[in-house]
Amino acid sequence: MNIRIERAKNLKEKPEGALGFGKNFTDHMFVMDWSRDKGWYDERIIPYGPMVIDPVAMVLHYAQETFEGLKAYMGKDDNVYLFRPEMNARRFANSNRRMCMPEVPEDMFIEAISEIVKVEKSWIPTGEGESLYIRPFMYANQSGLGVDEADSYRFMIVLCPVGAYYPQGVNPVKIYVEDELTRTTVGGTGFVKCGGNYAGSLAGQVKAQKLGYTQVLWLDGVHRKYVEEVGSMNAMFLVNDTVITAPIEGTVLAGVTRDSIISLLKSWGYKVEERKIEIDELIEKGKSGELKEAWGTGTAAVISPIGELFYKGDKVEINDFETGELTKKLYDTLTGIQWGNIEDKYNWRKIVK
Ligand code: COI
Repeated sequence: MNIRIERAKNLKEKPEGALGFGKNFTDHMFVMDWSRDKGWYDERIIPYGPMVIDPVAMVLHYAQETFEGLKAYMGKDDNVYLFRPEMNARRFANSNRRMCMPEVPEDMFIEAISEIVKVEKSWIPTGEGESLYIRPFMYANQSGLGVDEADSYRFMIVLCPVGAYYPQGVNPVKIYVEDELTRTTVGGTGFVKCGGNYAGSLAGQVKAQKLGYTQVLWLDGVHRKYVEEVGSMNAMFLVNDTVITAPIEGTVLAGVTRDSIISLLKSWGYKVEERKIEIDELIEKGKSGELKEAWGTGTAAVISPIGELFYKGDKVEINDFETGELTKKLYDTLTGIQWGNIEDKYNWRKIVK
């Protein structure tokens, strides 16, 4: 790629104190356009700022939009690390195929991320658990109201320094199991990282929050019986000595953190079952004490302990609402690898050069 760089004239103040998630954005952004005639063109890094968008840009009406999420970590050795960016590139391509959008080739995707991260290196925060969140996304910017695939798209990357995703930090969250609304069914877009999935999930989230819960655990869209995902993260359950998580069969997002945690667990000798689990069974295991620990996995959320499940009036507290031993070990190991503090046996870390 031949990326043109236009530097911002006025640089922003870096945020101080707790960073939270998705609040502050860096000085520059990556932009690249696509048309059916030209393919990808005009790749550029320009000052971060609002964009002009036609009122009938197709994305505003029919939601043709996809995105990704990954992070850059500042190692103690002053290297900047990415974590398995090729997995994000492949998932982005899968999402774009399902949404009839153009693919960004893996090497271009990683080069664009590396270049913008290099420009914004001074924005990578160095506090405990802090990183630079990378949000690549694409949308249909062709004007028109006919429902069809578009002839032009824009791909962009914005960056934001982040700390913990949930206000609770790395402490247990309370999860509401949604038994009325559904998120997706097989054949739909559940496995796709597209804005529409998240828009559709907001009613559940708002309902849960009103009742004092942080997030929603979604059940399958046909029977409302099998546990799927939490929307902002995949969910895992330690039942006795087996870890159970929903299978990737079209409705659940193929999480990069999910995949990494499964590898770690297997390497430690845990039995991992990627299978359907009924919510009734899970609640029973919770009541009998066989549900020892539960946690969510995600790029933004990292490993987030689940301390309580609420389902149809039944409350189940997990591990006395404390972060479990295995949850903690997974968090420490994963973040140790991501920040370059422990050996990376799997070659997951990539130095940004
Ligand atoms: C991520 O973990 O990167 C996500 O995209 C989840 C959420 C912030 C939408």
